[in-house]
Amino acid sequence: MTQKIKKIAILTGGGDCPGLNAVIRAVTRTAILEYGYEVIGYRYGYRGLYNNDFIPLTIDAVSGILHRGGTILYSSNKDNLFDYAVEENGVMIKKDVSDVAVENLKKENVDALIVIGGDGTLTSARDFSRKGVNVIGVPKTIDNDLVGTDVTFGFNTAIDVATEALDRLHTTAESHHRIMLLEVMGRNAGWIALESGIAGSADVILVPEIPYNINKIVEQIKDRQSKGRVFSIIVVAEGAKPLDGEVVVNKVVEDSPDPIRLGGIANKLAHDLEKLIKGNEIRSTVLGHTQRGGNTSTYDRILSTRYGVAAVELISEGRFGNMVCLKGNNISEISLEDVIGNIKNVDPECELVKVARKIGISLGD
Ligand code: F6P
Repeated sequence: MTQKIKKIAILTGGGDCPGLNAVIRAVTRTAILEYGYEVIGYRYGYRGLYNNDFIPLTIDAVSGILHRGGTILYSSNKDNLFDYAVEENGVMIKKDVSDVAVENLKKENVDALIVIGGDGTLTSARDFSRKGVNVIGVPKTIDNDLVGTDVTFGFNTAIDVATEALDRLHTTAESHHRIMLLEVMGRNAGWIALESGIAGSADVILVPEIPYNINKIVEQIKDRQSKGRVFSIIVVAEGAKPLDGEVVVNKVVEDSPDPIRLGGIANKLAHDLEKLIKGNEIRSTVLGHTQRGGNTSTYDRILSTRYGVAAVELISEGRFGNMVCLKGNNISEISLEDVIGNIKNVDPECELVKVARKIGISLGD
């Protein structure tokens, strides 16, 4: 028999992403207007669940946030409650405190929890589901690297930002006959680079899944020069690497469950290219967190709203342990068990890579 739902909770975990607020709004409005549920939001991701730090989510509380990036619930990408830093006898140790979170949910009479996050956050969601918590996941990340959904919300906004940056680099590159490199995010997946590179008319796209040969990049630039094209644009994913080299690590965040922060490949490649190309100045731009900030794109507002509504519908039907997802143009769901453990990379043989090659873009191989 389906449990009678009265109260639900939401939390947002991991790096922030445009569309989080749109999901929070859609969940809250659907839960209240359609089903008459009470809604609360835990603050700072799982840390709020541990500290029982929450706010009531009402129609008023979610008013005016649809377009806004970030999350009104704040987020944390350091707090894994299954391996959590706590002080015991004056010493910091890591331990499993997930039972505290389960007790807090019981204490507040929360019947179901919606977890909005990427790989790390949804791994904990799966683990809470295994402990008997009624969990629904919503797939978030600008990287679009989550298995089980065609698209994560936030990705579209990120490629819009990257494409606009490429448009802007074009005009200045052309004026000064420069070679311009744009480094985009995406961790170990090349989706942002590939899609913004095609949309932003890049001459070279470098993704982690296709290690590059610098001589092939030089060939592409020289080929353009021989045809009178006096500038070139290269978009490089932060996780890209040369055939015989490694990724460039920008920072190690020691207290994060996923401590490696990539960054710096554009500068390295600019430096390497300077030795091989004479006559053109080479400059690099690192787009960084601008890809995650600001307003949410129209596409992401709609996708996030669809995900939020679908998450509450799954709760109303008692279909827990699932993540909402997009398959083709349809919203569907997939078991959290089938989502965790892998990332969705760019297949070097996929149609989009072939499209890029057929219109003369070099993938650096
Ligand atoms: O996963 C989203 C993302 O923006 C990646 O593209 C990037 O590598 C990482 O997060 C940056 O993390 P942080 O915000 O901790 O620097």
